[in-house]
Amino acid sequence: MTSMSYPYCAGNDPMPFDSSDLLSLCKRRGFIWPSYEIYGGVAGMFDYGPLGCVLKNNIVEAWRSIYKSREGFIEIDSETVNPVAVFKASGHVDQFSDLMTYCKECKEPFRADHLAKGHHENPDILTPKQLEDLFVKNNIKCPECKGELGPVEDFNLMFKTTIGPGSSRIGYLRPETAQGIFVNYLNLYRYNREKLPLGVIQTGRGYRNEIAPRQGMIRMREFNMMEVELFVDPDNKDWDRFPEIENEKMTLIPQDGREITLTVGEAVGKGVIVNRVLAYFVYTTQQLLMKLGLDPARIRFRQHLSDEMAHYAADCWDAEALLSYGWTEITGIADRGCWDLSRHSEFSGVDMTHFRRFDEPREVEMDVVKAKHKALGPKFKGKAKDIAAAIESKQPKDVVNNMITIPADSETMQLGDEFFEVVRIKEKISGERVIPHVIEPSYGLDRIFYSILEHAYSYDEKDDYVTLRLRPGVAPIKVGVFPLMDKDGLDVLSLSVYEGLQMSGIESYYDTSGAIGRRYARMDEIGTPWCITVDYESVEKGKNNGTVTIRDRDTREQKRIKIDDVNSVIKELLAGKGFGTL
Ligand code: ATP
Ligand code: GLY
Repeated sequence: MTSMSYPYCAGNDPMPFDSSDLLSLCKRRGFIWPSYEIYGGVAGMFDYGPLGCVLKNNIVEAWRSIYKSREGFIEIDSETVNPVAVFKASGHVDQFSDLMTYCKECKEPFRADHLAKGHHENPDILTPKQLEDLFVKNNIKCPECKGELGPVEDFNLMFKTTIGPGSSRIGYLRPETAQGIFVNYLNLYRYNREKLPLGVIQTGRGYRNEIAPRQGMIRMREFNMMEVELFVDPDNKDWDRFPEIENEKMTLIPQDGREITLTVGEAVGKGVIVNRVLAYFVYTTQQLLMKLGLDPARIRFRQHLSDEMAHYAADCWDAEALLSYGWTEITGIADRGCWDLSRHSEFSGVDMTHFRRFDEPREVEMDVVKAKHKALGPKFKGKAKDIAAAIESKQPKDVVNNMITIPADSETMQLGDEFFEVVRIKEKISGERVIPHVIEPSYGLDRIFYSILEHAYSYDEKDDYVTLRLRPGVAPIKVGVFPLMDKDGLDVLSLSVYEGLQMSGIESYYDTSGAIGRRYARMDEIGTPWCITVDYESVEKGKNNGTVTIRDRDTREQKRIKIDDVNSVIKELLAGKGFGTL
């Protein structure tokens, strides 16, 4: 039987692969379902079915095994509803928006930059006015009804809510899990005994009120993220494990747009990736994607152009997968610099620095802001102590026109120099405080989930036969167990094989219905790597008594193994032993 993965073309051409075949398989077999389908569905919303849940969990476990087990990072789980203060500080209230237009006739909304694709090299960087001009110049109309397009305007992507009754306590659903880590920086830093580097991971839902989601799981309004926030000393440009991977290769597209294949070491040496920490995590992302079974030939890393970068990023590389939708971002690896901690520190008034200890204490002269306690006491009474502390956490550079601004409740307060002074002091210091920098690999779980399925999808035209060539580690079902006939003791024996596998933590599926070929086909279609069949030889006297057949999904090869060895054989295969060596 000839089998092939669906054809794909290198470069930017969309592939002749119809994602609706895969989406219909996903729906039919219980990977994903459009949400609220009985009410007509909601664009950009999907539910995970039984197989989808297991596959999704397997992806998360593979991610944890790299970041938690190998790198020793710690995991948290923070709230998804956040008070407005968090996203004011993070910049999302003012800057997290896409440009939108709508059709004046049918009122359908559109991402303005998406309508400009094909008419401009990088529509992402155009202003509303430039987009409007481009629509006029190129006679771009509503793709649905050819109506005229309306003005282009900013649309903030966050879902707004209130926390408790009343409209004053504004909250937002988080558009990234990252902020839950930043606002917990102090707790995490103390947990880590005030040491850097400090790696923190979090998986959970992110919410973005996408303007016009039309690409299946690629653009969802509620989606799943696996985020990693690595806090490093700003002077630390190295990573201990870098030598282990420096000779590994990656396909990179730096800002000049030329695709190059370099080793990780060369990428840093030639200045393509700015330092070894960022390069290490770009490569770690490639390792994870390979481990999950993505096709190396359909993965690349593209550096953001400077005007394409998110408001918080100093540098960013996207892991892109070639899908039927074209090259698609599935992970962003950003250097967020000191943006987040500086902003949360500024907006909350809380010190979010790291104490960098010197090898030897140093004597230094410095200017510091001192509170005038005698003036503060009578004026602010019981609050004077807190105000004095807030004043002394400020730097001389924070004094503007002899005034200083400190946080007060949810507002700020300005104080004149009758309440503070800048004085020069000499001090022996054992270190200095620096704001950690953040390296962030941010994985879109749903896009990775979908990419795994597309890259594993293999269709045999001649036999109209679908095989999902999922890596055993991620496959939702590891073993299908069948009695050849549902009688004569074959049923009892195969049920005990199935239960034995289940009890040892190996996700299995027991199937008695239909011809054996149909049962294999059902397992191949959902990516089950092995099937075990109990036949008459298993129970009858003779050399094969007490044995079963095991079939390999990709080669269709079958072997006989002892029933007593089933669990251990499957464990060995899962650990990477080749089927041919059984
Ligand atoms: P895009 O440019 O495609 O909108 P983005 O640059 O806004 O994506 P990031 O902000 O870097 O995406 O988010 C990190 C990851 O989260 C992305 O790499 C992607 O995999 C995932 N992601 C972002 N938005 C969505 C969405 N609407 N639906 C599903 N996954 C998403
Ligand atoms: N945390 C990365 C992003 O959401 O953009």
